[in-house]
Amino acid sequence: MRVDIITIFPDYFGTTAKGAGPLGVSLIGKAAARGDLDFRLHDLRRWATDVHHTVDDTPFGGGPGMVMKPDVWGTALDDVLTGDGTVTAPSAPSAPLARLIVPTPSGTPFTQGLAAAYAAEKRLVFACGRYEGIDSRVVADARSAMAVDEVSIGDYVLAGGEVAVCVILEAVCRLLPGVLGNEQSAADDSFGGGTGEAGDPMRGLLEGPVYTRPRSWRGREVPPVLLSGDHQAIARWRRDEALRRTAAVRPDLVSQIISGTPGGAAMLDARDRTVLAEAGFPVDGESMAH
Ligand code: ADE
Repeated sequence: MRVDIITIFPDYFGTTAKGAGPLGVSLIGKAAARGDLDFRLHDLRRWATDVHHTVDDTPFGGGPGMVMKPDVWGTALDDVLTGDGTVTAPSAPSAPLARLIVPTPSGTPFTQGLAAAYAAEKRLVFACGRYEGIDSRVVADARSAMAVDEVSIGDYVLAGGEVAVCVILEAVCRLLPGVLGNEQSAADDSFGGGTGEAGDPMRGLLEGPVYTRPRSWRGREVPPVLLSGDHQAIARWRRDEALRRTAAVRPDLVSQIISGTPGGAAMLDARDRTVLAEAGFPVDGESMAH
C-alpha cells in the first residue's frame, strides 16, 4: 500500500536524530522496511508561492485563527495525486487511484470498520490540517475526482491532523496481510471480535481482561478457568467478561447490540442475557437464540 502524507510538519513522522519516527518503528516500521508499505511525506510549504511559504490566511467573515489556503492545498494535492509529489512532477496517469483522508474534529468518527475499509485500498493520501482547518472548497473540489473522507478520531480538538494520521495508520496497517504476524490477534480485538459476521453479537464488544505468567503475582491469582484447559469454558468466560466490561464502560455499545443491530438481540443466548441482566441490561426474552 502506498501512503502519502501532506503536512507542514513532515519531521513529525520522519526520522529524527534519536532514531525512527512513528512510521519507522514496530510492526509498521518492519512492513515499511519490507516494502509492503510505501510512505511518502510531503511538506505542504513546498507548494506555497510566496517568499515566506505562507499556507494560511485570515478567515472570511471574521473570527479567530487562520484558515489554510485553497490554492496551496489544491496544487499540492494535484501534484501528489498525479505525480511523485515533486512540484514539477509530470502527470502519471498510471498512479493508483487514491482515497483522500482529511482528519478533522468535524469529521465522521473513525471506527474499526473504516480501518478495515482503508486496509483494502491500494493508496491512501492524508491531508493534515492545522490552525482552524483547510478552506472548505479543497475537499469539495477533491470530491469531484476521488473518494474523500473527513474523519475524526474523537470528540476533542487536536492542534493538527498529524496525530490523527498516526492513529489511523496504526489501526489500518496492523490489518494488512503479514503486518501483525498473528492474524488471530486482529480478529479477537475489541470491536473486531467474534466471527465478524453480520449480527454476531461479539462484534462491537470490548475485549475482556488478559493474563500471562506468573499465575500468582502480588497475591493476585489468574482466574482458574484460564488454567483449566477447558476451551469451551474459557470461551464462555471470555464472552461473559467482554459483555460485563462493555456494559460497565460502554453502555452505548450494549444498547446498540440489543436494539440497534438488526437481529442483534436474537443472537444473544440465555447466558448472554443473564450476564447482561446482572449488568443492568435486561434483554427482551422473545427473540432469544436457541
Ligand atoms: N484534528 C484536530 N482534532 C482532530 C480530531 N479530533 N480528529 C481528527 N483530526 C483532528
